[in-house]
Formats: sequence, structure tokens, C-alpha cells
Amino acid sequence: MTATTVGRPLTIEEYAPLARARLPEATWHYFEGGAGTESTVEANRAAFRRVRIRPRVLSDVSHCDTSTTILGEPASAPLGVAPMAYHELACEEGEVATVRAAGELRVPTVVGIFASRSFERIAEHATGPVWLQLYWLHRRGVLERVVRRAEDAGFRALVLTVDTPRLGRRLREARHGFHLPPHITAPNLDGEVTGFLHEHEDGSSALSRHADAFIDPSLNWSDLDWLRSRTRLPIVLKGVLSAADAARAADLGVDALIVSNHGGRQLDGASATLDALPDVVRAVAGRCPVFLDGGVRGGTDVLKALAAGARAVFVGRPVLWGLAAAGEAGARDVLTLLRDELEDAMALAGCPSLDSLTPDLLDRGAAAVAPAASYDESPEGRR
Ligand SMILES: Cc1cc2nc3c(=O)[nH]c(=O)nc-3n(C[C@H](O)[C@H](O)[C@H](O)COP(=O)(O)O)c2cc1C
Repeated sequence: MTATTVGRPLTIEEYAPLARARLPEATWHYFEGGAGTESTVEANRAAFRRVRIRPRVLSDVSHCDTSTTILGEPASAPLGVAPMAYHELACEEGEVATVRAAGELRVPTVVGIFASRSFERIAEHATGPVWLQLYWLHRRGVLERVVRRAEDAGFRALVLTVDTPRLGRRLREARHGFHLPPHITAPNLDGEVTGFLHEHEDGSSALSRHADAFIDPSLNWSDLDWLRSRTRLPIVLKGVLSAADAARAADLGVDALIVSNHGGRQLDGASATLDALPDVVRAVAGRCPVFLDGGVRGGTDVLKALAAGARAVFVGRPVLWGLAAAGEAGARDVLTLLRDELEDAMALAGCPSLDSLTPDLLDRGAAAVAPAASYDESPEGRR
């Protein structure tokens, strides 16, 4: 897709080439890259393309309302910004620009533990809800301090990323020799990590070695108690794709799940998030909200995810494209485009409210989203 030559971009994807033109080549590949062959990056998009919509008619769509609540807080649309490290790589104001943009739309921003601005500074500029993403650090004392600081700064939820016992094999980072520029740091972890942050060697990804030194791969279900006992904030698990894990998380009382494969950056070959969503929604059975991220690039994608059972979706790379192309205004425009396209899709699909986005809106209902179970109970199937 190419950028429009007249006026501002008309679609989110038109922000990608604008961002690329303004970023160092290695940074572009750090943003865009996935793990291994990037088959999961592609699968996320393919799933959205494959599922099609059966619009309803004669349903009075003179007013279509995209507003909702996300973890109990009002939002103008079922959207949020997914956690991403170092927004300063995309624009000078870093996460401050992001939370201002998201705040204007009243949608949540998940700030990464590797944010390039302090939690306090981010919170000062936030006009919408801000959540904190955590990796399970070896140093539990550091984790505890980070949680307390975020609570004190007014963050509203904790998002524990559970798909990252180690970093995926991000080949593009290695091929393009990506490393953090010296002026970009992780101030919320300062002193604990700066020793590693800017190391690099030819041919290997500095970032993955750095992360592996920090992330504790022994994370398991019993650790959730530790986190629960140290915070009063809602706990969201990010990176769940299996129904069994989703059911267990709901049994343990987590406050929400994000169906995510980390934008295809972790396990290459992992399911597309839209494909995994219906099974997760069924397993959770209404006990907590289920969110989705990965490959959301337009309003009809949001509509499909909601029809398949998501309460809201989070957006990753497109927000970085907006930030890189035009700072805060670019990120705001990306989110606004998504919200406006969703409103448009709702009208054309005959759905005036988010409640009317149900699985029967999708071709063959949720079955079109999730392939049927391979085990066939029928006598023919058991032969
Ligand atoms: C540059 C970049 C950095 C990311 N950093 C983190 C991170 O620090 N923690 C995390 O949980 N997810 C991280 N993610 C994954 C996102 O939260 C999200 O799952 C993914 O980007 C969604 O897919 P999308 O980019 O196709 O929208 C990162 C993604 C990108 C592109």
C-alpha cells in the first residue's frame, strides 16, 4: 500500500511508508520484524482477511455508538494501545506523546516496563487510563518497586506478559544490527539494567540478550499469588492462546486476558489471534473480559474481533507508525481512523451498538473464525 499524495493518510496502513521514510532502517526492522520466518505475523493478518462479514439490514443505523467500558472505565471505542518498549525510538516525546494521543480518545495505553519515559512523567501527561505491562523479572524486588511506583503514579491495571520466557528469535534485528541508541534508556529500571542496554555485537541482537538476562523463565501459575498479594490493581494476562490456559486463568480470578502472540514476535508458528479467540472466549465463559491484539489494521478488523467475542482490541505497530510519521498527532490520527472506521463498519453491517456484534455476523458464525475441533465424535469420524 502506498501513501496518499494528497492530504493526510486515509488508512492506517498508509502510515507505514511514512514512518519508514523517517526511521533509521534498523529501527524500522525492529518495529516490523517477527520471530523466525514471520509466519505468525502473516497469520494474524491472513485470519482477518479470511473471515468475512454477513451484514444485517433494516436495523436503523442512524446512530452507531462505539463507546464502551474497558476494565470498568469509559472509553470512546473498544480500543487500546498495546505495550511496546521504547516509544522514543519512534518520536522524541516517547510515551508522553502516546498517552496524550490515547487520552484524547479516552482509550487505555499499556505502558511497557521498558518505557523510555518515567512512569511519573507519563502519568502527568495522561488524560486516559494508563496500565503497566510487566515482564517477570528475576529480581522480584525490582518488580515490586516498579509495581508500587506505577500504583502511586495512578496507573489503573497491571498487564503481565506471559508469552515471553525468553525473547523470540528476531532475525531482522540481528541482520540489521539493531541496537538501542545511547540516548535511549529505560528510566524505570535505571541502574538495574543500564549495564546491558547498549551493548551490541555484530550479528546478534543486543536486545534479546539483554532481555534474557532479566526475564525469569521459571514463571508459573503459582507466581500469580505473589503478584496478587502485592497489588490492589486488576491483573491482566497478556499472551494467552490456549483454551486450557484461559480456563485456568479465569479459575484463578485474573481480571482480564489478552489473546496475543506478541505480534508474531515470540513463537513463530503460533496461532493467529483471531483464530484462537473463540476457543478462549468459550473457555472463559464470561468470567472476565477477553481482549485481543495482533494484526488489527482497520475498523472491520475491530468489528470481526468483537463479533468473535473480544471486549476490546489493542493496537501495536500502527501506533508506532503514527508516532514516527507525525508524533502525537500521528498516533492520535491512527486511533481516530480506527474508531471512525469501526463506526462506519457498524453502520454498514447493520449494527448500531457494540452489543449487536455477535458471532452470527461472521460467515458461518464463530466456526469461520476457529477451525472445528479435529476429533470427530460421529460414528463416521471415529472409524
Ligand atoms: C516494537 C515492539 C515492541 C514491543 N514491546 C513489547 C513489550 O515490551 N512488552 C509486551 O508485552 N509486548 C510488546 N510488544 C508486543 C505488543 O504488545 C503487541 O502484542 C503486538 O505488537 C500486537 O500486534 P500488532 O503490532 O500487529 O498490532 C511489542 C511489539 C512491538 C512491535
